[in-house]
Amino acid sequence: MHAMSKPIRWGILGTGLIATEFAKALQHVRDAELVSVGSRTQSSSSTFASAHGLARAHGSYEALAADPLVDVVYIATPHTLHCENTLLCLRAGKHVLCEKPFALNTAQLTEMVNEAQRRQLFLMEAMWMRFIPLLRDLQHRLAENEIGEIRMLQADFGFRAPFDPFSRLFNLDLAGGALLDIGIYPLAFAMLLLGEPAEVASLAHEAATGVDEQSAYLLRHAQGQISVLASALRTQTSMSARVYGTRGLIHLPKQFWRAKEMIVQPRNKAPQHVHLPYHGNGYQFEAQEVVDCLLAGKTESEIMPLADSLSLMRTMDQIRRQWGLTYPVEKISDLNS
Ligand SMILES: NC(=O)c1ccc[n+]([C@@H]2O[C@H](COP(=O)([O-])OP(=O)(O)OC[C@H]3O[C@@H](n4cnc5c(N)ncnc54)[C@H](OP(=O)(O)O)[C@@H]3O)[C@@H](O)[C@H]2O)c1
Repeated sequence: MHAMSKPIRWGILGTGLIATEFAKALQHVRDAELVSVGSRTQSSSSTFASAHGLARAHGSYEALAADPLVDVVYIATPHTLHCENTLLCLRAGKHVLCEKPFALNTAQLTEMVNEAQRRQLFLMEAMWMRFIPLLRDLQHRLAENEIGEIRMLQADFGFRAPFDPFSRLFNLDLAGGALLDIGIYPLAFAMLLLGEPAEVASLAHEAATGVDEQSAYLLRHAQGQISVLASALRTQTSMSARVYGTRGLIHLPKQFWRAKEMIVQPRNKAPQHVHLPYHGNGYQFEAQEVVDCLLAGKTESEIMPLADSLSLMRTMDQIRRQWGLTYPVEKISDLNS
């Protein structure tokens, strides 16, 4: 792929909650311009376009994918459409940033990755946690051995949402449930620091719709490190993370996936409170990475490589196999592959 010229022109596919947040974040991104949007309906597309000052509003996802003024598309639809929408855009020659979970399963994700690689197009999972300044700083401190070697970590993501069987969160047809929506964050956190687990054990409690209402995951990593993780759609949890090393611990007390503060506590030393605040909603950092990669002619991010997304997807497949949970839109054989 050749390096592209400035500005990188974005299109957004879907007009829901996260699409709006991402449009706001793009205002803080260098060398980027939001030019176009696509929706299932023209009215929703036009409303979104006028709210964000866009000249181009398409009444279908196909029309957005075909828009010659768009370089890269951000996919902001429910989980069940991520694979289909990504393939649509790649086949139209667009680079893609796709919301998490990247796909429903490894079979889908493999098809997406193969398509991008065949066409020499950029593809990345919108795992924005990896680009948050404090999370980058945390990795640096761990690499510098500030708390020794990591032996164990804990992380959870739970909130109490009203039970609505038709909402994206609880709807089985839209691949709702805690794991794919928010359990993905503690899993991605653990795997960022400790890699793909050698062994996984998990338990889920089902909501009335059949999705996992709350679930817990225990990972054993290559050198015997253990991750203790959980997620919940009807239980407020601390949303914190703790990383335990041989010479101390690091505590991210609030919303670890978008953290602005942490306490670094090496053994026998005073705790250090680290603050790395940022403006806006935090989605600007992942968008900046996409822009920088495209300007450098890269088809993949070194901070969020496709191999790591595949590894995360494999682990989530494995967890769902343990529960026997498949979604109606998915072939059972996909999960077993
Ligand atoms: N990174 C994050 O922090 C974060 C936060 C929230 C969500 N997400 C991810 O982003 C994705 C979208 O979440 P969201 O909260 O933005 O959802 P949302 O508000 O329901 O919006 C989803 C959009 O997708 C389109 N869509 C297409 N088919 C649909 C269907 N059958 N039902 C509902 N919407 C449909 C709609 O746009 P049109 O009508 O315009 O086509 C809708 O506005 C999810 O995969 C979620 O995991 C990420």
